[in-house]
Amino acid sequence: METGKVSQEQNLKREDSQQSQGVPRRKIVNLLLGGGLLTTLGSILVPLINFIIPPKVQEAAQNSVVAAKVGELPLNSGKIFRFGSKPGILVHTQNDEYVAFSAICTHLDCTVQYRQDFKHIWCACHNGHFDLTGKNISGPPPRPLEAYKVDIREEDIVVSRSA
Ligand code: FES
Repeated sequence: METGKVSQEQNLKREDSQQSQGVPRRKIVNLLLGGGLLTTLGSILVPLINFIIPPKVQEAAQNSVVAAKVGELPLNSGKIFRFGSKPGILVHTQNDEYVAFSAICTHLDCTVQYRQDFKHIWCACHNGHFDLTGKNISGPPPRPLEAYKVDIREEDIVVSRSA
């Protein structure tokens, strides 16, 4: 009888010690699973929120840019340049004048180009044509190109937004 009681007590103590070891293990597993779940949710939600509410990127308050160097463009040629985050087009006309415009077509926002054979600006997307004042002269573009001001400062050809 005595030995039965002792072994019963020993069994109870063993169960207690197993339970006390099992609870922290379970807590650790739960913490790891919860942490993994939170990390997964965060990795999905943060980009989603950034997509829905994009961070405010400061649009470069750039009102002028050096579009080219004097002598860079031969007569009857054009060049696409970067004006802030948008493309611009600088044209050196046959009359040795420089004109510049936004290079974004007013139809569906394709980038226009200068055509030496046409001697004017052309949009390849839907065959839109603009003269050298930026006016839409043929094709689907509904409005003229935005015109920029051109100044020559020593070696630089500086293009500015008209105020
Ligand atoms: S986008 Fe230029 S003509 Fe259509």
